[in-house]
Amino acid sequence: MAKDTLSVTDNRTGKTYELPIENGCIRSMDLRQIKSGADDFGLMAYDPAFLNTANCKSAITFIDGDKGILEYRGYPIEQLAEKSNYLEVAYLVMNGELPTKAQYEDFVHVITHHTYVHENVKSFMSGFRYDAHPMAMLASTVAALSAFYPEAKNVKDRQTRRIQMMRLIAKMPTIAAFSYRHTTGLPYVYPENELGYTENFFTMVKQIGDRRFKANKTLVKALDVLFILHADHEQNCSTTSTRVVGSSEVDPYSAVAAGVTALYGPLHGGANEAVLRMLREIGDVKKVPEFIKKVKEGNDTKLMGFGHRVYKNYDPRAKVIKRTCDEVFEVTGRNPLLDIAVELERIALQDEYFIKRKLYPNVDFYSGLIYEAMGFPVDMFPVLFAIPRTVGWVSQWEEMITDNEQKIARPRQIFTGAKKRDYVPVEKRG
Ligand code: SDX
Repeated sequence: MAKDTLSVTDNRTGKTYELPIENGCIRSMDLRQIKSGADDFGLMAYDPAFLNTANCKSAITFIDGDKGILEYRGYPIEQLAEKSNYLEVAYLVMNGELPTKAQYEDFVHVITHHTYVHENVKSFMSGFRYDAHPMAMLASTVAALSAFYPEAKNVKDRQTRRIQMMRLIAKMPTIAAFSYRHTTGLPYVYPENELGYTENFFTMVKQIGDRRFKANKTLVKALDVLFILHADHEQNCSTTSTRVVGSSEVDPYSAVAAGVTALYGPLHGGANEAVLRMLREIGDVKKVPEFIKKVKEGNDTKLMGFGHRVYKNYDPRAKVIKRTCDEVFEVTGRNPLLDIAVELERIALQDEYFIKRKLYPNVDFYSGLIYEAMGFPVDMFPVLFAIPRTVGWVSQWEEMITDNEQKIARPRQIFTGAKKRDYVPVEKRG
């Protein structure tokens, strides 16, 4: 009768071991009993970049990379993008269920009344150079919030955790907008409580003087959909960074700041910025074949916005974003770079190099075209990723803190350095 176990024979000793299989995994610690001799430390699993390592159990987001499926707490992303809004999805990601009307109204009230930052945060941000990258400003300022809420260190207390989580969700758009205004030399615009979450962000970015800026409803809706699509994505690089840093029981501002800095990288959330720079560099649809050739030569020129560690099919978010492009361009006029992006996709999806490596457009391939059409500068694009991902980071952080199996993250290594040797006085060094 089939058993949920793995029988392993160590050919060094001839011994056989039976390892339990649970949730499609073996426990790495079960390998430690496999020793070549009495003083052997025991077997470890070597997995650089965690390509095949589950570091946690999570109930938040389910992805099926082969089928291109993405669900938040069981709800398909396509349905949430069509029927929900970002704050309702944030409640769902944080709490596991869609809110009742009363729960939703209370959640919105609390978020709305925590959008301000301490005035000293403004002076902190004024120290950045005029041309500072907004992601660098965002990461540093989120970390600085740790100094404003010292009680946040009490990570074991649910009530304290929850208020910090709400503060982070509420203040991220404010700090993001302030970062943008700083780089443009414009005075900061404060949040307005009667505006919705996404409209408020638009106003803090776009308002000039005291003339009430009226954000275009279609653009606000499109950005809200993009926020929904970016809310969480299971154990990606930035979420793993937040979990690992948070495992030392540091406050959530410091842990989320680690997530922001990881997201900043061009292989992760910085890809949407890199895609726009790539499309501008290509410059003309006629130059697409030449660029694809350069990518295939493998001299480290990547087709940015393509490929994914998990999706080996079309990223379901990219499909929704591509549809959203049409709605936005109705208002803003068509972004000519879209033609280059569509031609890149058309060629890549039929080219053996990309097919063999299962490289499809990911969430970052089309999102930048929308952000540019909305008037955001390219270096704000990863910031537009960080705002909605905050609810994913804080929810995954809390799941880690409350998971009895979790403890401080401290991986092992394979030592490849020099063996023990004696100190050599400087006069004897050759
Ligand atoms: C995000 O993890 C998440 O969930 C992330 C994210 C989220 O929501 O949090 O989905 C958001 O980060 C999306 C990804 C955005 N990044 C990019 O678009 C940057 C371009 N993509 C690649 O750098 C790459 O595809 C990654 C980083 C996304 C995934 O890299 P992997 O899984 O480590 O795959 P790999 O680098 O080992 O690539 C396998 C092969 C290699 O070729 P060979 O060595 O086999 O010849 O595919 C090639 C790579 O060179 N390849 C690419 C490519 N991506 C991979 N070749 C050209 N262009 C690309 N974009």
